[in-house]
Amino acid sequence: MAEHASIDRRRLLAWAGASAAGVWLPRAAFGQPRFRTDPFALGVASGSPLHDSVVLWTRLVGANSQPPGDGAIAVRWEVAHDEQFGRVVQSGLAQALPELAHSVHVEVAGLEPDRWYFYRFMAGDATSAVGRARTFPAPDERVQKLRLAYASCQRWEHGYFSAYRHMREESLDAVLFLGDYIYEYPGAVNPVRATPGGWTITLADYRNRYALHRSDPDLRAMHAACPWIVTWDDHEVQNDYAGLSPGKSGLGVPDFAARRAAAYQAFYEHMPVRASALTQAVRGLQTGAETRLYSRQRIGQLASLIVLDDRQYRDRHACTKGGKAGSSDVDPASCALLNDPARTLLGAAQEQWLDAAFQSAGPGWTIVAQQTLFGQRNLTPGRGRSFWNDGWDGYPAARQRVTASLARHHVSDPVLLGGDMHENWVGHVKADYDKPESATLGVEFCGTSITSRSDGNEHLASWLAGNPHFVFGDAERKGYGVAEFTPKQMTATLRVVDDVTKPDSHIETLARFAVEAGRPRIERA
Ligand SMILES: [Fe+2]
Repeated sequence: MAEHASIDRRRLLAWAGASAAGVWLPRAAFGQPRFRTDPFALGVASGSPLHDSVVLWTRLVGANSQPPGDGAIAVRWEVAHDEQFGRVVQSGLAQALPELAHSVHVEVAGLEPDRWYFYRFMAGDATSAVGRARTFPAPDERVQKLRLAYASCQRWEHGYFSAYRHMREESLDAVLFLGDYIYEYPGAVNPVRATPGGWTITLADYRNRYALHRSDPDLRAMHAACPWIVTWDDHEVQNDYAGLSPGKSGLGVPDFAARRAAAYQAFYEHMPVRASALTQAVRGLQTGAETRLYSRQRIGQLASLIVLDDRQYRDRHACTKGGKAGSSDVDPASCALLNDPARTLLGAAQEQWLDAAFQSAGPGWTIVAQQTLFGQRNLTPGRGRSFWNDGWDGYPAARQRVTASLARHHVSDPVLLGGDMHENWVGHVKADYDKPESATLGVEFCGTSITSRSDGNEHLASWLAGNPHFVFGDAERKGYGVAEFTPKQMTATLRVVDDVTKPDSHIETLARFAVEAGRPRIERA
């Protein structure tokens, strides 16, 4: 079993690398099929932009998102200055391989910095929708403005993705997606829309779940509108999994590492990420091998963007009730393990890498895109201490190492963006969360879900009062945030829809905050 799996992984790396680089693998024949249904029904996407390159994505499908055939399919791609493709700047041929679900990942290089492009794909007699992609400014460029949306948690059966229809009007440079793009569940109590299929366990299950999401026209259109930079959380595999330890939803599987590998492969196949996510840093070729999503880059002189992965390398949860897998609230007084400095949320390698990234972050805003709530949130203020052990509160020593690193390197204007809570939380990043008088190192905006339900929260007022580093919380509304950065200030606008159970929801602004450069203090704006 292990032997077989390792061969699969090796082949996967070869296919991904060759396919993204435009290297043609020896094949008996590439078909030039005539399609009975639109092979580009799942849409197009761009992502992982740098100052000179961007990834273009599509996936070819047959009827009902099933494979369009058994063989490889040649796909032509074009990048142009204009939407009519009168001024094509680059074009080429890519191969859609059945082993990668006929996905296409083209890494277009040699583009001009800080510029928008149009792109499309052609296969057989079919042409895809037109997408818009952009490069970021060159590292030495003076940049006046950067607009990013941050979004997370889009449980299909909990609602419509109408938030994305409004997000298209936000004049964004890129979308940061911070985890829970799919959920592994077979459905929900009182679903807003039905979820075909059962639990996602196999590669085919995960592929079908991503294809289901891309059948939503608003999500598809937002992918076509601008580049996305993506990371993941637990539900791309299983609720509350930790590293190679399974989580707690559904029935267990005999080989969790194989399930995780299948889930990671399907994620790769559906996201505009670089092939190096699979190939660059693989420690071994077994099914537990790493898929590298954490990354950093400069965006002109305005900002650094650091993207973290707090799920793949983490230690197991401490003291979950009943000794079970997964998360629960824990009382630190009866859980010595919680504060064990050996425990890690990012893994040792990513922690070291992050420390180096902070050391060399450079001037301007230091944007840290990660999955969850960073700041400490005592759930029983006035009655003792209790923490939810799936977020940073479950790994306090690891969080302390991050804040110590921010302080030690005098990191310029840290802005942490997160998700996972299905609630909006806004707060200050503290050197010591137990000491309100300790230094404020940066600011945090943890965004609400696109659709995923929260329990409502009758404790919200007491949690805010008992955790004074937070200045705002809201447990009701769904949507996304827009973070705008200029050399002088950043603003975060919390955008929320009326009702996720309706496909035609309106949007409004729940709250708006501003932070001046050089002064980590959140003001209402
Ligand atoms: Fe979620």
